[in-house]
Order: sequence, then structure tokens, then C-alpha cells
Amino acid sequence: MKINKNYQSSSEEETKKIAKDFAKLLKSGDVVALFGDLGSGKTVFVKGLARGLGIKTTITSPTFILIKSYPIYRAQKSLNFYHLDLYRVNGAKDIERLGLEELFSKDAIVVIEWADRAKTLPKKRIDVFLEAINGHTRRIKIDRRG
Ligand SMILES: Nc1ncnc2c1ncn2[C@@H]1O[C@H](COP(=O)(O)OP(=O)(O)O)[C@@H](O)[C@H]1O
Ligand SMILES: [Mg+2]
Repeated sequence: MKINKNYQSSSEEETKKIAKDFAKLLKSGDVVALFGDLGSGKTVFVKGLARGLGIKTTITSPTFILIKSYPIYRAQKSLNFYHLDLYRVNGAKDIERLGLEELFSKDAIVVIEWADRAKTLPKKRIDVFLEAINGHTRRIKIDRRG
């Protein structure tokens, strides 16, 4: 699987599979920024990602607490997978409180829903754009930048 690619998914399961395969390419320090409207499949994508990273617990959206962390193993090292959801961030204070800058510099893999709401994103990151074409079809665009 290439990292700069466009996909079309016709089901929730297919989106999870794409994310699961993509997860295999992730390394410690990677930041994945998810963009797309409500219902475009960002959380579904994160669930597939988590599956690919070997996380066995169910991923639920961290909508109210903004951030959740899960222990993972990558190249024989234990690190954390952080799942952020900025949908409910309320102004600069909230963003500040999350300590994004610190998080981005960690030995971790970070995925952010509603990444457009973060004031700053690292230049080196992977953008994932999700777009609903119809009820079950999603366009998924993965772009490594920086
Ligand atoms: N191809 C698809 N990929 C992902 N989700 C899909 C797809 N087709 C239908 N869906 C549905 O769209 C919704 C996506 O929800 P969710 O992942 O929570 O969106 P977001 O986090 O972007 O708001 C789910 O109800 C899911 O079942
Ligand atoms: Mg979501």
C-alpha cells in the first residue's frame, strides 16, 4: 500500500480495512490528521487504524474528553496511540490545555479527528481527507506531507 493515494470505499468495513493496511506503514512519531464532515467516517477510520496497530479494546469516540490513549507495540517498543477529537474544542484555552505541541513531539502515534480545528499541526504529518459521496460511498485521500 502506498501512502499517497486515493481510495473509494463502499462500506464501513472497507474503510476499516483501508485504515488497517495504512496503519502498518505508521512509525513512532507519526501524526495523522483527519479531515471531513460529520459522518464522513473519521471515527470508523480510527477504528480500523487501531485494529492495524494491534489494539484489542473497542475504540469509542473521545468526543467529550477530547483525547484517549492506548498502549501499543511498534518495532519491539512500547508506546502510546493517542486518539484526539477536536469537534468540541471551545477556543484557544481548550486547545492549549491539550498540549498538542508536546503531544506531537512524543514517541507516539497520534491521530486527530477534526484536525482543521487545531491551531497548528506539525509540518511533517499525514493528512487523510474523507468525503461522503452517498450513503455508503466514501472517498479517502491519503497524503504524506513535510
Ligand atoms: N464507506 C463507509 N466508510 C465509513 N463509514 C461509512 C461508510 N458507509 C457508511 N458509513 C457510515 O457513516 C458513519 C460514519 O460515522 P463516523 O465514523 O462516526 O463519522 P465521523 O467520525 O467522521 O463523524 C457511520 O455510521 C458508518 O456506518
Ligand atoms: Mg468522529
